[in-house]
Amino acid sequence: MRGGEDTGAARAGLTTVSGGGASSRAWRREVREGRRFAFGNNWRRYARVLDEDRIDQARRSLEVMLGDGSLRGRSFLDVGSGSGLFSLAARQLGARVFSFDYDPDSVECTRELRERFDLDHEDWQIERGSVLDPEFMRSIGEFDIVYAWGVLHHTGQMYAALDEVTRRVTSGGMLYIAIYNDCGIRARYWRGVKRLYCSGLIGRLVVCSLYLPYFFIGRLAKSLLNGRDQFRAYRERRGMSAVYDWFDWLGGYPYEVARPEDLFRFLRDRGFALRELVTVDGLGINELVVQRVGGVSPDR
Ligand SMILES: C[S@@+](CC[C@H](N)C(=O)[O-])C[C@H]1O[C@@H](n2cnc3c(N)ncnc32)[C@H](O)[C@@H]1O
Repeated sequence: MRGGEDTGAARAGLTTVSGGGASSRAWRREVREGRRFAFGNNWRRYARVLDEDRIDQARRSLEVMLGDGSLRGRSFLDVGSGSGLFSLAARQLGARVFSFDYDPDSVECTRELRERFDLDHEDWQIERGSVLDPEFMRSIGEFDIVYAWGVLHHTGQMYAALDEVTRRVTSGGMLYIAIYNDCGIRARYWRGVKRLYCSGLIGRLVVCSLYLPYFFIGRLAKSLLNGRDQFRAYRERRGMSAVYDWFDWLGGYPYEVARPEDLFRFLRDRGFALRELVTVDGLGINELVVQRVGGVSPDR
């Protein structure tokens, strides 16, 4: 794990290694041209409603999949940290954390969270970088736990990104990924909706006015039918907010999907064994935890 992110040298390292300034411009251009959703904007709004309850849920979600006490004293890489919630949860569970994101607002949001909880910069390092930048990825080293939840399918090159994260896992270490399920034509339909959302103001207005009332009424109806607040139920799963996730879902572009068996085979062929699996039927996200058991060199 790379040290001293907040030193001038490290900052200079980021600029030369990952082309920080240049890739920031590239990110802005991608957003302007409708090729990418600005996730960080949404995260900054979400950070305002982040409370102890949600953080507790996030901690629990990590322990359920990775094992109780499994983070203590381990190095943890949060790929595409978004709001920084899971980096915070991992840090509170005793891991030494390295977070990065491609979106400058996500990076800022993660930094603000670290400041808000007054956490040590030495044990929680935060940088801006892309999982698709092999030089940047090589420069950050290897980690006991690599966490990429809901990220790789938003990079535009999902399998290249997956290959990169496998290289960052130490021998015996764990990789925890969550990737949208391939549900055929419905996935293609949603890719079109997301592209429209990102195309500009009119696209955004059309998509929001069509889907937000539908999402809201759907969840309300489910709450009434089941006698349980579905907004609360959602929050209890990972500490996330249904409403902020709606925007994430509507705008989340690029958008790729995979079948769990394809992910499994990809990872098995790179020396990983399956440890945990949660799959969905239809639209949704599949989660896999795999462990590096093969002796494959990370930078082969
Ligand atoms: C849906 S959010 C998930 C955030 C967080 N992992 C979580 O579970 O809440 C996806 C994040 O991936 C980031 N992202 C997209 N492409 C990326 C890339 N090439 N490298 C690093 N992060 C990227 C986005 O900026 C965004 O913050």
